[in-house]
Amino acid sequence: MAFSFILLLSSVAAAFLLFIRRIRYRRMGLPPGSLGYPLIGETLQLIKAYKTENPEPFIDERVARYGSVFMTHLFGEPTIFSADAEMNRFVLQNEGKLFEGSYPASICNLLGKHSLVLMKGSLHKRMHSLTMSFANSSIIKDHLMLDIDRLVQFNLDSWSSRVLLMEEAKKARRKVAEELTVVVMKRRTEEEEGGERKKDMLAALLAADEGFSDEEIVDFLVAILVAGYETTSTIMTLAVKFVTETPLALAQLKVVNETLRIANIIGGVFRRAMTDVEIKGYKIPKGWKVFSSFRAVHLDPNHFKDARTFNPWRWQSNSVTRSPSNVFAPFGGGPRICPGYELARVALSVFLHRLVTGFRFTYLHMQDSIPLDRFQKG
Ligand code: HEM
Repeated sequence: MAFSFILLLSSVAAAFLLFIRRIRYRRMGLPPGSLGYPLIGETLQLIKAYKTENPEPFIDERVARYGSVFMTHLFGEPTIFSADAEMNRFVLQNEGKLFEGSYPASICNLLGKHSLVLMKGSLHKRMHSLTMSFANSSIIKDHLMLDIDRLVQFNLDSWSSRVLLMEEAKKARRKVAEELTVVVMKRRTEEEEGGERKKDMLAALLAADEGFSDEEIVDFLVAILVAGYETTSTIMTLAVKFVTETPLALAQLKVVNETLRIANIIGGVFRRAMTDVEIKGYKIPKGWKVFSSFRAVHLDPNHFKDARTFNPWRWQSNSVTRSPSNVFAPFGGGPRICPGYELARVALSVFLHRLVTGFRFTYLHMQDSIPLDRFQKG
């Protein structure tokens, strides 16, 4: 009896506190939404949604209830979730002024503390443009294209009877870092001994005014590999899935855009407000996280007709299902825009070209895996 009474009392007290908190947040001008349970917030709901076949319910339910900007609580922090294209652009463009990149600790451990994603301020600016300068269209055309093609063909040739694309995708960071360390040390020694000076990214990093250590250079390179590897390989896998399901699209590299729209591995990015920010009539308090969701915008029927349907033809210039290009942002935007965006597009295009011109393939339904199987050289 006494236990039931205490339980009832605590439930009433908790509900009352939640009510007070909601009123306080509304007065502060925060967007509508719920911070969920103490400490865990709405993280479990988010994870649960991503385990279902259609992970959109988390976003769909909240957008329907609160609108495209709402408050939630994810991974231990209060977060403003934006499914709004205009707000996403504002957040990305104001990197370093009103917002700054903010990644969870697990990502920081994987990438290493000297990676581009963790750099800030003028060092980030310099290293971002250095990275871009080694992956721009003329470098790709003049230097990388042949290598990309050779690598794609080499890997496709190694596909014999049965391939599960994602199985090979995870490599141990330590092993990669060790191999890269040997390369960096060797190159440093060569340069110190007055050997021929190469014109690649490693040479630029070794010559940088900052005097980067081997560890810093290796971290930087590993992060680029990680950022470029999983993203590109997943998008390739999914492009094959869609191409298989939409044979007419085989000839059209509009598949690239449509795959990036509907199935981008990076659903959005986290930022942290550096100061109190007012946007769209709401206030984002200093220190709060913002999640700019590209996925929510890409799957919004207000921007793309039949948004949940894979339709590469929408990218034809005269298509009515197309959307203004300023809402399509699979590579982010602003000062942190993905420096590998041209490289990724080219790699994906070369891969699809070699695949459809050199292979016959079938699509088998398989549960819980990237559903691609039994490739046969044509
Ligand atoms: C389909 C493939 C890819 C997709 C969808 C993709 C997408 C993205 C996105 C959304 C971001 C976050 C941008 C932001 O914070 O505003 C990003 C950052 C980054 N990407 Fe990619 N990416 C891809 C391939 C690549 C490749 C091939 C490279 C290698 C050069 C690369 C290197 C990076 C790096 C280093 C960053 C961090 C940039 C920074 O924080 O300044 N990515 N990418």
